[in-house]
Amino acid sequence: MDVTQVASVLNQEIASLQYGQHPPELYEPIRYMMSLGGKRLRPVLTLLASYLYTDNWQKYTKPAIAVEVFHNFTLMHDDIMDAAPLRRGNPTVHTKWNNNVAILSGDVMLVSAYELFLELKPEQMPTVIRRFNRCASEVCEGQQLDMNFEKIATVSEEDYLQMIGLKTAALLGFSLELGGLVSEAPERDTILLRELGESIGIGFQLKDDLLDVFGEQAKFGKQVGGDIIANKKTFLLIKALQSATGEDQAQLQHWLAKKEFVAEEKVKAVTNIYNRLNIRQLCEAKMNEYFALGLFCLEKLDAPEARKQVLREFVEQIIHREN
Ligand code: IPE
Ligand code: IPE
Ligand code: MG
Ligand code: MG
Ligand code: MG
Repeated sequence: MDVTQVASVLNQEIASLQYGQHPPELYEPIRYMMSLGGKRLRPVLTLLASYLYTDNWQKYTKPAIAVEVFHNFTLMHDDIMDAAPLRRGNPTVHTKWNNNVAILSGDVMLVSAYELFLELKPEQMPTVIRRFNRCASEVCEGQQLDMNFEKIATVSEEDYLQMIGLKTAALLGFSLELGGLVSEAPERDTILLRELGESIGIGFQLKDDLLDVFGEQAKFGKQVGGDIIANKKTFLLIKALQSATGEDQAQLQHWLAKKEFVAEEKVKAVTNIYNRLNIRQLCEAKMNEYFALGLFCLEKLDAPEARKQVLREFVEQIIHREN
């Protein structure tokens, strides 16, 4: 068993999902969003985690896909909140259709996620749904904090880490924990799997913030500079605000306060300040700290070494991603 095999099983199954037909404005955006693909790393993590404890990992494809459908729902709504024009190299749903379409299609995707969980064994259902509900609420909590932070002047590193722990890391934690739950892993391991996911989830969002400034748009598939335009309190901005002095601090404040600006000019000016302050290196160091914490949890899992190696290699791939 390897990651390619897992990905191909998932891709086939996702391509065969049926969402409904009428009215087309409700269902077409779902097919559009799901067909754009993305990395699909959350369901891969679920299945790799289940493979640590069972040969029958294929049996859990549907619940794994529930996580991916839920993730795509959060992206559809996130793109409205972030006024994002691009996703996976293509127009976002609310720009291709409109906000109301993106809201409602997203809502139906959440329902589809629950439908996919119905494939679980009845005795597993309550625990999984309870854990999933907790995680889904955390994602919303994190998203609201993210929105609140756009409007306030100073956000501490601690507040930021808590916010991304909720909006992003909670779901990576759940993706891995789900693999343990469905394959009846020892309880100690399901907890370790969740911690592994939460740690790499923090690293993952730090890298997302980094790519939002320094990524290559063609690879990244999202608008580079979007976070700067929206005054997102990313780790980069928080560190820059803490360390900038003199003219750099004044320039940062100027761009943060400016209501009307040419997007390109603001992105360029703020990026230059990040470069002068070596913010990229600070962010990479923090990110690597969290990836190391995650890998440490992986070592402690009570599963065959060869199977742990498959998961370890996939985590390494996530760490080195460029999109
Ligand atoms: C994007 O997630 C949202 C974040 C948590 C940063 P991914 O980077 O996994 O997006 P896709 O699914 O691969 O497009
Ligand atoms: C949002 O973070 C993560 C979600 C919970 C959807 P971002 O807003 O940074 O995600 P991207 O960059 O749009 O994918
Ligand atoms: Mg966004
Ligand atoms: Mg967002
Ligand atoms: Mg982002």
